[in-house]
Amino acid sequence: MKIKVINGPNLNMFGVRQPETYGATTLEQINQALARLGEELGIGSLEFFQSNIEGEIVEAIQQSHKRIDGILINPAAYGHTSIAIRDALLAVSIPFVEVHASNIYKREEFRHKTYLSDIAEGVITGFSADSYLLGLRALHTILKNKTS
Ligand code: DQA
Repeated sequence: MKIKVINGPNLNMFGVRQPETYGATTLEQINQALARLGEELGIGSLEFFQSNIEGEIVEAIQQSHKRIDGILINPAAYGHTSIAIRDALLAVSIPFVEVHASNIYKREEFRHKTYLSDIAEGVITGFSADSYLLGLRALHTILKNKTS
């Protein structure tokens, strides 16, 4: 099982950026925790990608075609704006789980809609770094059930 973890803009600033909203954990720490959980769950390969650039995220999704079984994505602000990222996910038809560290429904109205949530397997929002771990567990279960 191959899973790619994709993080969008400003998430490289986790730990520094608005800690009252996003927590104190850095992206590096989140990735390390995901790698540990991946081993525990027996996920063969976990790849990590972060970019502040929309087109690079589109490329990373396209390059996953026929290579990656599932995507865990925090699209960050692009989730609220990017039809291109939605289209890339539809193009590769790779099952994905959308995660957010903050609870987007508790925040400004413009964060309540994302262009990914209606095509995601599911959305986890509001549990800080744990959103990622919960998301990985959910994605792993979904992929396991698809192959069995
Ligand atoms: C976020 C929520 C988005 O609204 C915001 O633009 C982010 C981070 C989150 O993880 O809570 O950059 O995706």
